[in-house]
Amino acid sequence: PEIGCLSIIVLGASGDLAKKKTFPALFHLYCQGFLPPNEVHIFGYARTKISDDELRNRIRGYLVSERSASPSKDVSKFLQLIKYVSGSYDAAEGFQTLDKEISKHETSKNSLEGSSRRLFYLALPPSVYPSVCRMIRRYCMNKSNLGGWTRIVVEKPFGRDLGSAEELSSQIGELFDEPQIYRIDHYLGKELVQNLLVLRFANRFFLPLWNRDNIDNVQIVFREDFGTEGRGGYFDEYGIIRDIIQNHLLQVLCLVAMEKPVSLKPEHIRDEKVKVLQSVLPIKDEEVVLGQYEGYRDDPTVPDHSNTPTFATVILRIHNERWEGVPFILKAGKALNSRKAEIRVQFKDVPGDIFKCKKQGRNEFVIRLQPSEAMYMKLMVKQPGLEMSTVQSELDLSYRQRYQGVTIPEAYERLILDTIRGDQQHFVRRDELKAAWEIFTPLLHRIDNGEMNPIPYQAGSRGPAEADELLEKAGYVQTHGYIWIPPTL
Ligand code: BG6
Repeated sequence: PEIGCLSIIVLGASGDLAKKKTFPALFHLYCQGFLPPNEVHIFGYARTKISDDELRNRIRGYLVSERSASPSKDVSKFLQLIKYVSGSYDAAEGFQTLDKEISKHETSKNSLEGSSRRLFYLALPPSVYPSVCRMIRRYCMNKSNLGGWTRIVVEKPFGRDLGSAEELSSQIGELFDEPQIYRIDHYLGKELVQNLLVLRFANRFFLPLWNRDNIDNVQIVFREDFGTEGRGGYFDEYGIIRDIIQNHLLQVLCLVAMEKPVSLKPEHIRDEKVKVLQSVLPIKDEEVVLGQYEGYRDDPTVPDHSNTPTFATVILRIHNERWEGVPFILKAGKALNSRKAEIRVQFKDVPGDIFKCKKQGRNEFVIRLQPSEAMYMKLMVKQPGLEMSTVQSELDLSYRQRYQGVTIPEAYERLILDTIRGDQQHFVRRDELKAAWEIFTPLLHRIDNGEMNPIPYQAGSRGPAEADELLEKAGYVQTHGYIWIPPTL
């Protein structure tokens, strides 16, 4: 590992993302010893003029979660590592001050000899990315006489469509090279998403089955049981497709559908992901159902006539040898009847079924991303007892039960550690982003132009009934009478 000073600069330090995700993730890394206090300094940067202590007080309440019953001693020590610098996002002055502050500790006597490593985390709206990147490039790069690096972490939304995303990419691309840019999609930091490669390519079980000959359809589902309260203004600009499907669910699709990479090198993996995206056929209007929950427009920050979907089911079709004919059903919704994210791989019927058990349901392999992380296989067994009848059951790997006492790290925690280590595997490459926008841009434009309208659905429901009809048309067979119950300890 590299040694020397590591400076982590959180821009947009007083915003929601920084408070709720970035600083808590840094805190957890600190508690686990990944941010040694003699090497690491953390800086918050934002426009508001506040003191170091004011920033610390704003963050404090978010650091301690159920998961980390960390003693307040840790919290205070961590907070002491944080300094605050205020300044605008497009003027030299603030960034020059920031550079001075960073440099001070890089050359201070107490600091370890070694490189100058600078990680800039842009917890900011993308409209200011170009100017902030320009300022960093001009005033805040690592000191080359000390060696080290400068890296930039950016968050979605990376643009609104293909054109704007490409423009943003080229503006940032003029200032930083691809290996310096880390585009976060936090779904790639989730434990069960990271497990997909192992599962698929380290198990002989799956290798021969994972294709169009055996799999009937794949669903990737995101459901939330709350609406857009508090962030209606942001959400209405983007909608569920840009907020969840074009990024989080599509990234999961890539990992489910891609071919085996040449090796585990980040570039090899990302090469395969790009190929899948490039093989996706144009989306057909009749394979889309949009919804908007009733009451969404009551939010004062949402326009009265908003056409923005809060629910969408979209079928993607991958035109290659492995997947021709297999629908990949991406479904996401806010204000539904439950909160979960899962991948559901449904197998075809057993040919020549002698048990006449078809009605009971098909084999399914389900990867529950959250909550209650698990993988389970729905399979048919003999109903225990004297009769010869069949029943659906499961092989179940539930993490809480199987890995008792193991804490599953937060997505952001893992991804920030990757940025420090320089591992880009779980970040979105520029060509990947472009391919992702190419898939959804025509549909998004039709929605933006009012050519496609969301169907109203009741908050707290399953979403529009039309979505279930589309699923059925695509070949998904719902199981009746069986339900997986997450085991309790
Ligand atoms: C964010 C979206 O990217 O992901 C939110 O902007 C959504 O709308 C969130 O609520 C969901 O993340 P998670 O990790 O809670 O599934």
